[in-house]
Amino acid sequence: MDALKPGTLLNSHYRIEEVVGRGSFGITYRVRDTEDLLEKNIALKECFPCEGCTRNSETGRIEAEAPEEYNAAIASMLEEACTLASIKHPGVVAGRVTFYCKATNSVFCGMEWVEGKSLHGKMEEVKNGQAAVFSTQTLQKWLMSILDALKCIHNNKVMHLDIKPANIMFDKADNPILVDFGAALNRNLKEGLTIVSTYTPAYAAPEQTSGRGKIGPWTDFYSLAATFYEMLTGHPVAEYGRGDIPEPENAGEPLAKTIMRNLSFAPKERCQSADEWFEMLVPSTQQMKSAMERLIRDCCKALTQSRKNEDLCPDDVRSICDKLCDYWTEHCTVVPEAIAELVQKVKKTVNLKKIDREESLTKSGAVLGGAAGVGAIAGGAAVGAGVGQGVVASAVAAVFGGPVLLPVALMAGGGAAIGLAAKALLTNAEKRIARKAYAQLVEDVGAAVEQCWPEYKSRWKP
Ligand SMILES: Nc1ncnc2c1ncn2[C@@H]1O[C@H](COP(=O)(O)OP(=O)(O)O)[C@@H](O)[C@H]1O
Ligand SMILES: [Mg+2]
Repeated sequence: MDALKPGTLLNSHYRIEEVVGRGSFGITYRVRDTEDLLEKNIALKECFPCEGCTRNSETGRIEAEAPEEYNAAIASMLEEACTLASIKHPGVVAGRVTFYCKATNSVFCGMEWVEGKSLHGKMEEVKNGQAAVFSTQTLQKWLMSILDALKCIHNNKVMHLDIKPANIMFDKADNPILVDFGAALNRNLKEGLTIVSTYTPAYAAPEQTSGRGKIGPWTDFYSLAATFYEMLTGHPVAEYGRGDIPEPENAGEPLAKTIMRNLSFAPKERCQSADEWFEMLVPSTQQMKSAMERLIRDCCKALTQSRKNEDLCPDDVRSICDKLCDYWTEHCTVVPEAIAELVQKVKKTVNLKKIDREESLTKSGAVLGGAAGVGAIAGGAAVGAGVGQGVVASAVAAVFGGPVLLPVALMAGGGAAIGLAAKALLTNAEKRIARKAYAQLVEDVGAAVEQCWPEYKSRWKP
């Protein structure tokens, strides 16, 4: 099928800039809308869903050998296209479809232009040594985003049916986007037409290539697993033909395990829904709870050790709280309310206790320091109130007052000593408060994780 030439004005305002893709389902162009002053790039896909179509080189129109069937196919596709256009998900190009229009006796689908590379391009770079091998974290992150996109399209009763590296693009923020819904559009076409086969054998599920077996979400999962197997091991699944697919090196890890499961020949042995696959990738509530408890314990150990095995103090508890929040933001897009509330409560409690302590210390210190101050004034030295100053005051009194004032000075010194003892006593009380807050925190975090994790795991970042 000949593509429209660059410079062609479609519907008198979409100017063809270049051909960016030529698949079995149609031709994808980069075009600009000359009526739009911004003249942004638009991805425009021209459809021709059946064989036996040719382009009239003079008019540019597509002419079909069986016009009636061709028209029925176009109408059916448009119907399906409306479902697709209603799917709004950042990881589905359908959500970026901005218009459909008719021209050249065909249908054109206009989409936002995605600037990033395709996964195929990224994989080529790795192969050529121009980019580092994908990390497990990256693979898991991409896989989870794609599963979320697939969940959305499957919920709309649409199957993609042509998932492969070339049909996964990336936006500017490096988030994957599923493109090319040609196979999905073709699926509902009526009999009587020679529909071009739209799947790609190297990534297609056995039920697609054999034409036997029910098509469903598991069909997309096979292709997705084949795509990720290739990224994980560097070997395309197709390399093994009908033989056994070797286990990846890190076969015990959830990522590799789920990939292998979804490469099962029998659809029933694969995941049946995106959620099912997702569940296998994220930690369970219990695992998350243990991770949090471990984090609190490790924090506590590190903090007390850094202070030469002394007990916890309120500052430590507050810093453990901060670590908890950091952990959540590192692994989840947001800190769940239950955790945030808990952290605030603990921080406030230890803060309040600290204020209480400081107040009582200042009061007792002021009284004792006052006594010392009297002694010091008698000795001719002017000093203020305060626990620490009591010591200075007694020394000053001793120096300036001489033997006459010694009893007063001793009294002042005694006051200071009592002040210091009171401080130590209160520090112990403070430590008790910190220990109690810590124990409570460990207990409450467990309960909070149980409460919020099921809801937040969809925001888990590997
Ligand atoms: N929205 C888009 N923005 C930028 N490029 C796109 C967009 N959609 C498709 N492409 C590019 O065009 C190629 C072909 O489009 P695709 O929809 O996959 O059709 P096909 O594989 O049937 O030719 C893609 O691999 C991609 O490189
Ligand atoms: Mg494609």
